[in-house]
Amino acid sequence: MPSAWEIEDLKSTNDWCFEIDESDGNLLRDSIKSLFEQDRDLLSYSPSEFDFGSSWEIIEKALLEAHHRKGLSIVRGLPREDLNQDEFRLLSWAIGLKAGVARPQGLASQYISAVQDAGTDYRAANGRGYSSNAELDFHVDVADLTILTCYNKAKSGGQSIISSGVTAHNYLIKERPDLAEIAYQHFYFSRQQEQAPDEKPFYSLPLFEEESGNLFCNWNRNRVQSAQNIEGVPELSKLQNETMNFLDEILTRPELMYTMYLEPGDIQIINNYRMFHSRTGYLDFENDLQKRCLYRLWLAPPDSIRLPESWKDFYRSVEPSTVRGGIIGQSYDKTCSDFDKTQSKFMSMKINTS
Ligand SMILES: [Fe+2]
Repeated sequence: MPSAWEIEDLKSTNDWCFEIDESDGNLLRDSIKSLFEQDRDLLSYSPSEFDFGSSWEIIEKALLEAHHRKGLSIVRGLPREDLNQDEFRLLSWAIGLKAGVARPQGLASQYISAVQDAGTDYRAANGRGYSSNAELDFHVDVADLTILTCYNKAKSGGQSIISSGVTAHNYLIKERPDLAEIAYQHFYFSRQQEQAPDEKPFYSLPLFEEESGNLFCNWNRNRVQSAQNIEGVPELSKLQNETMNFLDEILTRPELMYTMYLEPGDIQIINNYRMFHSRTGYLDFENDLQKRCLYRLWLAPPDSIRLPESWKDFYRSVEPSTVRGGIIGQSYDKTCSDFDKTQSKFMSMKINTS
């Protein structure tokens, strides 16, 4: 299985690395510059407005690689230098519009997030990693695919880390089958106080589960520990703690943990039910225009596969090719539902978000 990679596998082939050449990049830049309007709502753009030229074939291959093969891909060469931060945000949004149905990402039901230090306390009951500069635990995001585009690197740190959940699962079974049994049982995760009105403040699902011959991986230590302070969540057992510690030990083995810096103009695509990701802490430049800034999309792709039934509470739908995942949050209004409907129609996907 290509997603069961180790570092040597990533180094021995570049079939997961892609590049947009300069002339395609220029075409993309011109398309974005002609469509950008400072006050236009991103949700009002249509995928057919953007001209990606042949760069779309490259991005499509990268999406396929991340979604159905290695679980991870990189595309280099977005036209970063010629675009300001808002134009680059529109470019990032346009990629999501063409690739699937973007999902909301938090309390404010925002469909695209600037991954930027806003001073958030990651370990707080309502803490989130993307708006802090902290070192993060290995985790999955709440959608089939995450697309990150890099506008600025940090002054120091902010290294991207990925470890294959599939590989970790294989080692767990081989080395500690007793703990693998525990990992197949439900763990409780906090929603970090971002639950929608119809959701509980926590959800539960196993760390690993098989469905229709596919393995589904899920992990987020910060949310498991945060859930321990929520009424109604059972206390972690000694064996559960041991499983968590052993899993993190596997994930951080040098031969399994892939580290890289995203450079301005890079896209990173991750399959969240196969990969666990993380990031080192970072220091920003003084100048606001130079501070670390990535744009993040959570995506329901049209060619998604069936999830285990236990994921229903987490993704709200387990059916293949449906609009699923995301953090619906507390500002999901008619504009959001209209966007979901229009975009799912464009993608010929079924909608099932509430
Ligand atoms: Fe993440």
